[in-house]
Amino acid sequence: MPLHRLDSIRVAVPDAERQRAFYLAAGLTTDSTGSRFAGSNGGEQVTLEQGEFRRLLNVNVLSNDPSDISVIASRLTGLGLSSSTRDGVLVATDPATRVEFSVRVADAPKSATADVFPQNGPGHHERINQRASGVIPRARAPRRLGHVVIGSPDIEGTVRFLIEGLGFKVSDHFPGIIAFLRCSTDHHNVAVVNSEVPQLQHYSWECDDVDHVGHNGTALIAAGVAQHGWGFGRHYVGSNFFWYLLEPSGSFIEFYSDMDIITDDIEWETRGRTPVGPEHIGNSWGPRMPLEFVVPPDLDQLKSGWAKIS
Ligand SMILES: [Fe+2]
Repeated sequence: MPLHRLDSIRVAVPDAERQRAFYLAAGLTTDSTGSRFAGSNGGEQVTLEQGEFRRLLNVNVLSNDPSDISVIASRLTGLGLSSSTRDGVLVATDPATRVEFSVRVADAPKSATADVFPQNGPGHHERINQRASGVIPRARAPRRLGHVVIGSPDIEGTVRFLIEGLGFKVSDHFPGIIAFLRCSTDHHNVAVVNSEVPQLQHYSWECDDVDHVGHNGTALIAAGVAQHGWGFGRHYVGSNFFWYLLEPSGSFIEFYSDMDIITDDIEWETRGRTPVGPEHIGNSWGPRMPLEFVVPPDLDQLKSGWAKIS
């Protein structure tokens, strides 16, 4: 696949100062401008802007080869969509969500290293004569932005833009409800979910392991900078452990670990795909999906925000 990584996003929020404080509490670091934020392993991956209402403005993905850019441009033209290319960066906007996608060429990322915390299992003892490291609170920066989930009023149109235009691949698809797409070996980097108005439904940061997920979620709720959203649990689709928090702007932020990795498209298609059925959309175990995960509490604000600029 020419695409190889979700690089970064740019978001608008109604209270950038509060959002900045939340990101710093989550362990992200910021640059000298105070508007770009990084985890421990992915570089600066979120750029923050002050805006009338919360909105995903841009998604930047990386590609392998300069020729990919012209190939993507011609595919978009074939779909009747315009794009522009400047200094090697292609920019195109999904008509349904008004999210701008940019594609630029960069080397494939080197494989990440992580702290290893030995665990015991039946007949398999890796940690002997010492307690689990996970019992000691170790809230720390998440590693990297793994995926974004975009609410679209025309889900299949947005999916067509991403697959037939930009070159994303489908990992799992529940027609009319949600599609999980990848531009790397992660099960999903962008998912598109049905939504009355365009929105950043959630964005998700990879953690080292399940303890890292638990400690960070606990720490942010205890600090009073985010509210519990949904979890703790394990998704059926993508298999990852998850915990969602409602962050200050009104989007959900997810901390996750142990997601499915896809390196062989044919093998995934023949034995990996999730069976299509409503019981498989949410989680394998854990609390039920709350209503506000589907109907956001700030829906009226989103509607009036979009009405003003449409
Ligand atoms: Fe997610």
